[in-house]
Amino acid sequence: MQTVETINELKQIIALNKDKTIGFVPTMGYLHEGHLALLNKARSENELVVASIFVNPAQFGPNEDLDRYPRDIKRDTQLATNAGVDIIFIPTPEQMYPFDSGISITVGDLSTKLCGESRPGHFDGVLKVITKLFHLVQPTKAYFGQKDAQQLAIIETFVNAYNFPVEIVRVQTVRESDGLAKSSRNVFLNEKERSEAIHLYKALQLATIRWEETKDLTAAITIGKDHIESNTSGKIDYFEALSYPSLQQVTDDTKEVLFATAVFFEKARLIDNILIVKKDV
Ligand code: PAJ
Repeated sequence: MQTVETINELKQIIALNKDKTIGFVPTMGYLHEGHLALLNKARSENELVVASIFVNPAQFGPNEDLDRYPRDIKRDTQLATNAGVDIIFIPTPEQMYPFDSGISITVGDLSTKLCGESRPGHFDGVLKVITKLFHLVQPTKAYFGQKDAQQLAIIETFVNAYNFPVEIVRVQTVRESDGLAKSSRNVFLNEKERSEAIHLYKALQLATIRWEETKDLTAAITIGKDHIESNTSGKIDYFEALSYPSLQQVTDDTKEVLFATAVFFEKARLIDNILIVKKDV
């Protein structure tokens, strides 16, 4: 595996591999089995696998966890090597953002829901870095986790609307054995919160079961919220059901329904979701 730190070097390597299929996995590092699932899928479907590790300042708000976001490049490099990654791109913020162009990408309606509401500008920052990375890596396929369902919806819509020549591949959420979705931020949970955190997924399961049985969305959401409130010390940011990937109100015609939640614990805000594909539409 080759570690690349500069844009010039990356461009040269990509030019040398222009006839190969390229699978790309963008990450912010501190790799866990969720990331590895993306890397493994990319490895099985492409001739060249490129991963990036970049804690992207553009997608963090002023009071968010940019400075304390967990980092371990040495361990990440080992894990990426084991997963069969060919090129790992680890740029500095100066490499990625050497000057302010004054030009920005603004996500409209899709960023006003769910995580976008409490993280203004977050998805603009995600698209800023993804646009640059896609232009540099020129991937055939790029892999994203369903865990970050809103991010995936926005990237799918963006790529489709602006004709990026890349196929976006969805990868299912990888979980701990007790159901907690794997996340780099789980290290910020104290012992009590860690045991409570399983209730995000439990609440989503209860809500989806109720909805499938009764088609009563309001009751389903109430059950989910109540479950989190009675079983955790966390504060609910949102617990919602929306159409996917358009993130609109669910109607009879909605094919995919996203049940999603975000909960604030003392030092971490956790998210999780379940996506239901309706059989009868
Ligand atoms: P990061 O949080 O490091 O996640 C990188 C990729 O791994 C994302 O596509 C995310 O959805 C996926 N992922 C994280 N946890 C997962 C899990 N438990 N199961 C499956 N996939 C999982 O998401 C980002 O970084 C950034 O916003 C990024 C896209 C790299 C842009 O900066």
